[in-house]
Amino acid sequence: MMTQPFDYSGRTVFVAGGTSGINLGVAQAFARAGASVAVLSRTPDKVRSAVDELGEIGVTALGFAADVRDYDAVSAALTTAQQELGELDVLVSGAAGNFPAAAQSMSARAFAAVVDIDLKGTFNVLRAAYDHLRKPGASVINISAPQSSIPMDLQAHACAAKAGVDMLTRVCALEWGPSGVRVNAVAPGPIEGTEGMARLAPTPAMEHIVTDSVPLNRYGTAQEIADCCLWLASPQASYVTGAVIPVDGGWSLGGASQVFTAMRNLFNATP
Ligand code: COA
Ligand code: NAP
Repeated sequence: MMTQPFDYSGRTVFVAGGTSGINLGVAQAFARAGASVAVLSRTPDKVRSAVDELGEIGVTALGFAADVRDYDAVSAALTTAQQELGELDVLVSGAAGNFPAAAQSMSARAFAAVVDIDLKGTFNVLRAAYDHLRKPGASVINISAPQSSIPMDLQAHACAAKAGVDMLTRVCALEWGPSGVRVNAVAPGPIEGTEGMARLAPTPAMEHIVTDSVPLNRYGTAQEIADCCLWLASPQASYVTGAVIPVDGGWSLGGASQVFTAMRNLFNATP
């Protein structure tokens, strides 16, 4: 059996959007490393099942059904998490929404929905969590995306929102550094088995276009994103703050910029 290289026993981790996909993988990795973990998302069934899965790992797990667009609900969840689990050592903010849509046909409400969840939701989570973070020593990790730095076809909403997430990461790193709170972001590439890629590459032909555009020629795994988060929140990364770290098989070196342009016709053909 592989040795767990990070020990988070006695630590508390809160994962906003932690009930499925990459973020659940991150929550599970912290739980396997011994942390008590709280997750938050909108859907009560997803929250229940994530808490069950985390509990099966053998750690204390809490869940909250709330929308990151609702500041008061997020704040109440974080207050309860601190009361039940203690001050937060690690905050992961990863709630997001996405779908492929051209800027000229996307409704204003569609654009707003993604910005409200990804960017304003991240602000809500960070703002509400700050008072509950264990200072000094706490670590905040935002889940960004290659869209934050690379203009991508059909992704005006996600590009704008995630660019804002990266800048929020840097500004909070600047402001919170003196309190001993590190703030970083991880920008995953295309990750297998996720809702995000089911929406952006919904057919095998599209999946092949994506993997061909990644220098490592494959999708990544949620575990590979979690491994970066485990390191980022650890003492081994104690001098790292304000960084946006791509974990993307080299996708952001070039392939990511053209992939959805190449897929535009396939999207038009998809019913
Ligand atoms: N293409 C174009 N517009 C779309 C769309 C799509 N595929 N899906 C939703 N929209 C539009 C809606 O039509 C609506 O605009 P309108 O009122 O002008 O018609 C607007 O977006 C908001 O939709 P709504 O369903 O009310 O939003 P919501 O707040 O319930 O859900 C979403 C947010 C749209 C982001 C939804 O896709 C979601 O909940 N996603 C979470 C899961 C996810 O995306 N995972 C991947 C993470 S990378
Ligand atoms: P996912 O499974 O849909 O994860 C999104 C999570 O956020 C879910 O738990 C969802 O649960 C929650 N969520 C969505 N809207 C919310 C809201 N308004 N309030 C509270 N919670 C909300 O998708 P994923 O593909 O794994 O993506 C996870 C993260 O990785 C996102 O930040 C995404 O941008 C990023 N990312 C993904 C990829 C990829 O390849 N998939 C690549 C780059 C970056 P509910 O539906 O219950 O709310």
